[in-house]
Amino acid sequence: MIKFDKNNKVFTLDTVKTTYAIGLMDEGVLVHLYWGKKLKNPINAEWKKDFIWRSHSPFDYGDYSTNVLPLEFSAYGGGDSRLPSFSALYDDGSRVSKYRFKGYEIVNGKPEISGLPSTYAEKGDRVQTLIINLFDELKNVDIYLNYSVFEDLDAITRNVKIVNGGNTFKLHTVLSATTDFFGTDDMDIIHLDGAWARERYVTRQRIVKGNQNIKSQIGVSSSYHNPFIAVCDKNTTENSGDAYGFNLVYSGNFTAGAELNPYGTLRAYIGINPNEFEWVLESGKSFETPEAILVYSPEGLSGMSRIFHRLIRTRLARGKWRDKERYALINNWEATYFDFNEDKIVEIAKKAKEIGVDTMVLDDGWFGRRTGETRGLGDWVEMPERLPNGLKGLADRVNALGMRFGLWFEPEMVNPDSELFETHPDWIIHTKGRTPSKIRDQYTLDLSRDEVCEYIVNAVGSVLEKANIEYVKWDMNRQMSEVGSAGLPSENQGEVMHRYMLGLYRVLDTLTKKFPNVLFEACASGGARYDGGILHYMPQVWASDDTDAVERILIQYGTSFVYPYSSMGAHVSACPNHQNKRTTPFEMRCQVAIAGQFGFELDLNKCSGEELEIAKKAVEDYRRLGEIFHKGDLYRLRSPFETQMAVNEFISEDKKKVLVCIYPHSMTTAGHDEYIKLAGLEENANYELNGKIYGGDYLMNKGIYFINDSLYKTRILELNKC
Ligand code: DGJ
Repeated sequence: MIKFDKNNKVFTLDTVKTTYAIGLMDEGVLVHLYWGKKLKNPINAEWKKDFIWRSHSPFDYGDYSTNVLPLEFSAYGGGDSRLPSFSALYDDGSRVSKYRFKGYEIVNGKPEISGLPSTYAEKGDRVQTLIINLFDELKNVDIYLNYSVFEDLDAITRNVKIVNGGNTFKLHTVLSATTDFFGTDDMDIIHLDGAWARERYVTRQRIVKGNQNIKSQIGVSSSYHNPFIAVCDKNTTENSGDAYGFNLVYSGNFTAGAELNPYGTLRAYIGINPNEFEWVLESGKSFETPEAILVYSPEGLSGMSRIFHRLIRTRLARGKWRDKERYALINNWEATYFDFNEDKIVEIAKKAKEIGVDTMVLDDGWFGRRTGETRGLGDWVEMPERLPNGLKGLADRVNALGMRFGLWFEPEMVNPDSELFETHPDWIIHTKGRTPSKIRDQYTLDLSRDEVCEYIVNAVGSVLEKANIEYVKWDMNRQMSEVGSAGLPSENQGEVMHRYMLGLYRVLDTLTKKFPNVLFEACASGGARYDGGILHYMPQVWASDDTDAVERILIQYGTSFVYPYSSMGAHVSACPNHQNKRTTPFEMRCQVAIAGQFGFELDLNKCSGEELEIAKKAVEDYRRLGEIFHKGDLYRLRSPFETQMAVNEFISEDKKKVLVCIYPHSMTTAGHDEYIKLAGLEENANYELNGKIYGGDYLMNKGIYFINDSLYKTRILELNKC
């Protein structure tokens, strides 16, 4: 519910449990008043006095001390020394902007953001949007700050639209959200960092004076940093305390962070990375930023995650597969790499079918000249040596086993050794006069160009039409370098990386709508493009190329800070593990993968009878429990980054079933025992565990007794509410 109190000049944005409030100063400046637990009473006019006092600083620039006020929006040029929400270079050489309040509108529902992925409202949802119009009189430019309030999901989304009624100018910074916290010296920032095969590790640090920033500038959201930050009280834990989360629905360059100024005002921010961005905004044209999701929870970091999960799973992801339980699949990559043919794939599929797996996914190597990593990308036609009967022949044989057939593509890339590159050498991202770097022997296709996007839609589309392909793994294996486009004039070269994203989203939108029955899974050297932008089109992402169970405990734990388990592709692979050579028990590998979108990444023909029995049981358990992992409420009870194990608790939507996954990943003290306190149960209810009855209050205040008596002995406990 959104309200504007005309007397006190306060906008309040209420969800079921939270309030976000914006104040309007008499001079037309918007200030951030409040974000936290829901306020039952209106904020009275007194708020202005505090803010006026605060603005009496020795650094009194312009009409307001914009350097000390908690601003809701800050345009460069008025004296604010922090990272601005907006900056531009105007045609007269000036960089100074001055935006003041012009009006507002409250509409029901949520307008689409043109060309960009975003959350959406469905019929019957209690969603409203506040559109605040700011105006720079001198430059004749309107800015619209859009706030959509998902009342029942306790989330707010923000984005910014700029409409240029004046002369053409260059946009430099347009962040999707800046939120200033008043007088905060004791807060932490949390972000998810990593690299290939160790994506989304949790980093938590005290916010000190200055700017703590994470970013991407390599054209993809990347495995180095995820487009997410949380700021929280220093005492906030997984299940208590204030937590504020910011997530950008975007797959390209981003910046995010927290800047604490000398006066104790903290600016949290997220948006397109201004360092790698420049956009010529012609007279009469508009520009819209990606969407930022803002979440507040008083129930700690797990509380914040639960809100993200529900919103991302139900109102960002879309399409037929959004709510459906998906397959247990087998993928041949780690089983064969490039050494396969039709018969070998069918043999792998047959064995998998015996243990209940229902989808066979053929990975890299089925097309063009693709005998290995260095060749063939771009030529999406079957290789007769490997598939003498084409994709149709193989898909038909897999279907005859009673299984679905899935296929790997890497449509955004091209190898120099390919027909596509030989025909269109200028279709790659490159800068004239500079040698384009090869990464994994490949170049990035220039999706800022319409003809390239069209090629991809047609190439992928015609493959999907020629055989019964029900699943697509959409891979992307390099970052951008020497960025430039042969399709744009020199003054627009700063737009290439954002235009690439717009092109990619158009391609994904077209293909996913044209093939609504196909389940699309994203991948980028594992999880290097795991973000809300991608999840809008493809509801799951291959979380990491690291399939080692110990590493996966950490990766999946970090990923769950923002993204639901329903979005995490997680497979059981062979040991010693191909990435780090570690050997872990087969059961552990199954129990770690089962919480995600479960599957196998090995040749089951090579497994022992005992392993096959474990695998079969895992597939059965996955069918029985998958919905609880994917749609239930997650409470993280132990962090694998801080303790010897991860403990994740999932409560089913109907609250009747509780799963407690205990994942010891190391053992510094043999036989270490402890009680693990559960969370989120009903105090007065009883729960049955292994034939014994425990009170909800006992389980939450005392806990479940656990002995870490054997390295890597994982458990999944099932509790039933009596
Ligand atoms: C990188 C992916 O992450 C792997 O799963 C696999 O599909 C390879 N690419 C294939 O080249």
